[in-house]
Amino acid sequence: MTTANDALVLDAAAQDLLFREARTANTFTDEPVSDEQIQAVYELVKFAPTAFNQQPLRVVLVRSPEARERLVNQLADGNKAKTAAAPLVAILAVDNEFHEELPTQFPAFPAAKDIFFSERPVREGSARLNGALQVGYFILGVRAAGLAAGPMTGFDAQGVEKEFFADGDHSVLAVVNIGKPGADAWYPRSPRLAYDEVVTTV
Ligand SMILES: Cc1cc2nc3c(=O)[nH]c(=O)nc-3n(C[C@H](O)[C@H](O)[C@H](O)COP(=O)(O)O)c2cc1C
Repeated sequence: MTTANDALVLDAAAQDLLFREARTANTFTDEPVSDEQIQAVYELVKFAPTAFNQQPLRVVLVRSPEARERLVNQLADGNKAKTAAAPLVAILAVDNEFHEELPTQFPAFPAAKDIFFSERPVREGSARLNGALQVGYFILGVRAAGLAAGPMTGFDAQGVEKEFFADGDHSVLAVVNIGKPGADAWYPRSPRLAYDEVVTTV
């Protein structure tokens, strides 16, 4: 494991909490995750950037047993048991009609709504990119709250959309289990690509 680097201004404990010691959890304790905790996560990560400040992410907290069962039915087999048992599960989707909010959310250039986003396929592509960024921000926010996230893309997206987004205007990007890590929560840490394998300079 790498150690804290003096080039970073974020304190070492926060670096560990968000990155070095944070892991993808596969089991959780029974400790509940409150709406207040998720609101605190959102109030933090909402400031992270998206193109034109478009903020396409929409979050559905799956709390009722009935809704949990409907979601679990759409998951890949390997994701079912841990999702059924997690204290909280969030469906992270994007609103492909995000452009309706642009005049208020990007007041510096309200015409962007019509100039750049009048066509649905363009909106879907932009929402997918920017929503994926927001999924990453959300995972880091969960970690900032002292919780562990278990993000998953192993599910039938059309099935989840049919169950939870009947309006046809949303695309699901990820399902995230959230809670305090339980027993044997982690798989072995996988390696990471080295700096020189990832970064080039031209
Ligand atoms: C977008 C995304 C989708 C993932 N989908 C699944 C999944 O469907 N099932 C699963 O068990 N793990 C899934 N994972 C977990 C990854 O395998 C895990 O985060 C990665 O190996 C890093 O693990 P670590 O945080 O413990 O180092 C997913 C992670 C991400 C970020």
